[in-house]
Amino acid sequence: MIIGGGSGIGLAVARQAVAAGARVVLGGRSVATLTKAAEELGPAATWRAVDSTQQASLAGFFAGIDRVDHLFTPGASYRVGPMRELSDEDAASPFVSKFWGQYHAVKHAAAKLSADASIVLMSGAASVRPPGPAPAYVACNAAIEGLGRGLAVELAPVRVNVVAPGTIDGNLWSTRPAAQREAAFDQYRRATLLHRLGRESEVADAVLYLLTNGYTTGSTLYPDGGYTFR
Ligand SMILES: NC(=O)c1ccc[n+]([C@@H]2O[C@H](COP(=O)([O-])OP(=O)(O)OC[C@H]3O[C@@H](n4cnc5c(N)ncnc54)[C@H](OP(=O)(O)O)[C@@H]3O)[C@@H](O)[C@H]2O)c1
Repeated sequence: MIIGGGSGIGLAVARQAVAAGARVVLGGRSVATLTKAAEELGPAATWRAVDSTQQASLAGFFAGIDRVDHLFTPGASYRVGPMRELSDEDAASPFVSKFWGQYHAVKHAAAKLSADASIVLMSGAASVRPPGPAPAYVACNAAIEGLGRGLAVELAPVRVNVVAPGTIDGNLWSTRPAAQREAAFDQYRRATLLHRLGRESEVADAVLYLLTNGYTTGSTLYPDGGYTFR
């Protein structure tokens, strides 16, 4: 089950999961996005509309599902910016959507998880190397990495891991203003060891590893071209 599976990294993971023989359930808010993604993936994919900021919606998403073998939760929308510029509501939005959205998704899935299930949470490499002034967003990602470790303890033997990508040249950035995007891309190319942006498929490779490796739990993996290391 992939909340946020209709586009971007979530869809890239769905493609690889289907290629590996899985049946996938895509979640997201836009029916049009989900329908298009499921059509591309073929008969192994179904979809259900869900807003992970609404617990009643999450309950509906998991209702009627007998068993969850793998859960990935990249679906979130939020504002990012400096403390001195954002309203308190915008500053809280990463926590509302990305932190509590994922926390509640796991909570609503918990009763359905198979004994050897695995969960991957979505963070971001800003957790350990802030690219600019965005302290609430940075703190939110760091909190998600702590959440992954905490859930790995509580839910064992279910495995819980976190993926924290660097800047990815994909759907998310394609929707942002060109000038903002190109400035961020240039900065990232200079700041990372491999001098290029990541691809959604490269993050999906990392997620598939975390979903399927039977002896990895409580870890955070950084597919970031060396950004957090440099
Ligand atoms: N792309 C990057 O450079 C990058 C780097 C580090 C971390 N990340 C993280 O990766 C995650 C996914 O990003 P992406 O690059 O794959 O972008 P994306 O294509 O925008 O994916 C986000 C998906 O989540 C869904 N979504 C948004 N809010 C939701 C909600 N409240 N409930 C359920 N679904 C929701 C969206 O569909 P609807 O709008 O239809 O709901 C969309 O399909 C984000 O959390 C982001 O912080 C991305």
